[in-house]
Amino acid sequence: MASVGLRHIAKSYGALQVVHDVSLAVEDGEFIALVGPSGCGKSTLLRMIAGLEDITGGEVLIGGTVVNAMTPRERNIAMVFQSYALYPHMSVADNMGFNLKLAGVTKPEIARRVQEAARMLALEDLLQRKPSQLSGGQRQRVAMGRAVVRDPAVFLFDEPLSNLDAKLRVQMRTEIKALHQKVGTTSIYVTHDQIEAMTLADRIVVLNAGRIEQVGTPMELYRTPANLFVAGFIGSPAMNLLEGTIDADQDQPVVRLNGGSSIRIAPERRVRRGQSVRIGLRPEHLTATGDESIGGQTLLVEPTGAQTHVLFEFAGQQMTAVVDGDHPARHGTPFRAGIDRNLVYVFDGESGKTL
Ligand SMILES: Nc1ncnc2c1ncn2[C@@H]1O[C@H](COP(=O)(O)OP(=O)(O)O)[C@@H](O)[C@H]1O
Ligand SMILES: [Mg+2]
Repeated sequence: MASVGLRHIAKSYGALQVVHDVSLAVEDGEFIALVGPSGCGKSTLLRMIAGLEDITGGEVLIGGTVVNAMTPRERNIAMVFQSYALYPHMSVADNMGFNLKLAGVTKPEIARRVQEAARMLALEDLLQRKPSQLSGGQRQRVAMGRAVVRDPAVFLFDEPLSNLDAKLRVQMRTEIKALHQKVGTTSIYVTHDQIEAMTLADRIVVLNAGRIEQVGTPMELYRTPANLFVAGFIGSPAMNLLEGTIDADQDQPVVRLNGGSSIRIAPERRVRRGQSVRIGLRPEHLTATGDESIGGQTLLVEPTGAQTHVLFEFAGQQMTAVVDGDHPARHGTPFRAGIDRNLVYVFDGESGKTL
């Protein structure tokens, strides 16, 4: 196991810079998720850590040593990709042990490590099968097993679950987390799926256009997003955002929304009269009770079981509320939701920074 350090990492392809001044300290044993929209530079960053991509600027450290000039093998990392890339003619056991064989590890030692990894990943009964005789989830487990047997200093995952169907993805997510709890190896996990990042990671790094927007625990990012981008990216369904201008009412700050309504905000907000802002309301915070209420025509009702998503119109736009599954909301009828003033997010209209 080892810590991983990124110091002012930059990456350019010709004139195009795709990673800008990324610095990050990953602690030994930590599980870090790199999350952001497609094309924001996640894979590029991971591949630079792995040694599969040249580093244009800055330093990558593994276990405190600068590894920029080291080959992937010398870095002692193991990578799990979206495509499993198993050898079709080899058994599961041989697939898992292949890299060890190349590295000159003895046969009994390979057998021991493969057995141990198979036990951890519930692959013991499948060791003699060929990849074609496995389901997608089992193949991905073998790909993870291949990484585990090497006992690397760091695991790097690049969207390993993207090829699986929704149900299997949730199941494998649980397995990856359980695996990390067992082996404790430092892990960096790339995903575009914020739920995957939230559920797996000790800390999340939100990337946008090659830059870090915020680093924090899942709940820090959810509760105190640094800016509009993180606020909109973390949380599902996404935060409702409304444009408005700061005004005062009896010395208390109030946001006059562009649609004509007003919403009071907590007096501690660092806002000034006339400032253009965006306010954010999480769908799950639009409950029956609150300091004040908003509402409008119900446009759509989506039951999911325990909860129901209600789409309604307010201030000239479509809003989402998450309510109890037994809520009586019905298409075409009025919907009202209470809001707690302390749960209204306020962002600067220009910079997007949280106020
Ligand atoms: N070999 C390459 N040559 C030129 N541009 C590339 C190359 N690889 C990736 N890019 C560009 O770098 C950016 C980041 O890509 P990538 O790291 O794959 O994003 P992500 O994994 O977050 O979806 C994208 O704009 C992509 O088009
Ligand atoms: Mg990618």
